[in-house]
Amino acid sequence: TILILDFGSQYTHLIARRIRELGVYCELLACTTKIADVKFKPKGVILSGSPYSVYDKDAPHVDPAVWSLNVPILGICYGLQEIAWTHKGTVSPHDKREYGKAEIETLPGSRLFANLPNELVVWMSHGDQLSQIPEGFKPVAKTATAPFVAIEKEEEQVYGIQFHPEVTHTPQGSALLRNFVIGICEAKADWTMTSFIDKEIERIRAIVGPTAQVVGAVSGGVDSTVAAKLMSSAIGDRFHAILVDNGVMRLNECQTVKETLQHHLGINLTVADASDLFLGRLKGVNDPEKKRKIIGNSFIEVFEQEAAKIEAAVEQQGKGKIEFLLQGTLYPDVIESISFKGPSATIKTHHNVGGLLDDMKLKVIEPLRELFKDEVRALGTLMGIDDDLVWRHPFPGPGIAIRILGEVTPEQVQIARHADHIYIEEIKKAGLYRKISQAYAALLPVRSVGVMGDKRTYEQVIALRAVETKDFMTADWFEFPYDILKKISSRIINEVQGVNRVVYDVSSKPPATIEWE
Ligand code: XMP
Repeated sequence: TILILDFGSQYTHLIARRIRELGVYCELLACTTKIADVKFKPKGVILSGSPYSVYDKDAPHVDPAVWSLNVPILGICYGLQEIAWTHKGTVSPHDKREYGKAEIETLPGSRLFANLPNELVVWMSHGDQLSQIPEGFKPVAKTATAPFVAIEKEEEQVYGIQFHPEVTHTPQGSALLRNFVIGICEAKADWTMTSFIDKEIERIRAIVGPTAQVVGAVSGGVDSTVAAKLMSSAIGDRFHAILVDNGVMRLNECQTVKETLQHHLGINLTVADASDLFLGRLKGVNDPEKKRKIIGNSFIEVFEQEAAKIEAAVEQQGKGKIEFLLQGTLYPDVIESISFKGPSATIKTHHNVGGLLDDMKLKVIEPLRELFKDEVRALGTLMGIDDDLVWRHPFPGPGIAIRILGEVTPEQVQIARHADHIYIEEIKKAGLYRKISQAYAALLPVRSVGVMGDKRTYEQVIALRAVETKDFMTADWFEFPYDILKKISSRIINEVQGVNRVVYDVSSKPPATIEWE
């Protein structure tokens, strides 16, 4: 395991990503973590970048015990300055913030740059730079203006670099990290999803024990499906998956999810059809946040009722009690909660309905909490889950209720569903589904005049949304070829009753959001 100590840089999670891609397991902890509290013995340590300068009064510093771990240490950007700060080098503020591409020249002999060209393009993002090299260190790379962009003290295995190898703008960044992690730290590249499955199944069995029962909500999304498949592989029918039909899922979605989970993946599934309850409560409600609250609270209520029914049945059969709740939490959420928050703390994105735990007194079990999204997808594929599901776009918990602007009625749901279905079908036919991060049709509450045959129509508008994004915090609208938009538009207008106009949303996020509500 490689230990990454996070000083709050916006890039820290990418360090973890890159190292995992090398097949090496790593964990990220806050920079203020006490080494005595680290539960594993790291093969190497990486100190991340940071929005701070080491001389700031409240600048974070590592536990000094790091320096006596006797394993290789690599400081990146602020991490380099932290090395200089603790080894009595001098860091001086640079008037000009260096930000962007730079060319560096590496000096021969460093294991960090083994098998790399002498000249490298790298990505810089920092205000301070090293003006004096700490004692015992030697420079191993320079630029025209900075003599110490990379330094090392080989006998102590301490390395520092000013640039960011974890971003794709540093083309040889992964190779450099490989040199450090596999070459210098001698970490094993044995982190594969195949080995993960077996280990995780064993771990789940050990936690759950021989009789306890587990419940978990599934939505048809990749995270909950993969988590459910792992759980059912570990404990079979002692895992009870619950799908709540809230009446605002997509066309035929409930049926498809049922088919896939129950029949194809062999998961013990209960479908709770609560569409009337949800739609009843949504009647007359226009405000998006109210819709979210109603759906969130009703979901918890229905889920708990279903779980209680399952518990009663299980108890009657003299089997164990329900003791655990399965959740599909991923590593980015975990990182979000353990990261060191610098002055520019990340903006929170939406989270799915919480609240289940407070009521149910169950212990949480999170088999995906060490994984990134693409690792979950790889895992899904390995466990025989269809590509369609593995690559499905994210779908919000409140479903199409927040894609129907204004009141959500059964008639509006039908129109929105039908239009969305055609839209996604055409995107898939055009082979664009995987290029787009998220796409959906929104039903607007305005009516516009149209003409059909020799009759005047006065009907609703569908707004098509498609975005490309990495993290859903910022997004660009997708540039469709016109002929595909044309086809989608004419199909929706011809086939969906109640719609006579289709528009394409060309707003990026920010300032617009991905959803319309
Ligand atoms: P926005 O609209 O904020 O959306 O740009 C960013 C991402 O979050 C999803 N989203 C939600 N997901 N419950 C969810 O589970 C919600 O209430 C919710 N609102 C937005 C949205 O689909 C996009 O992926």
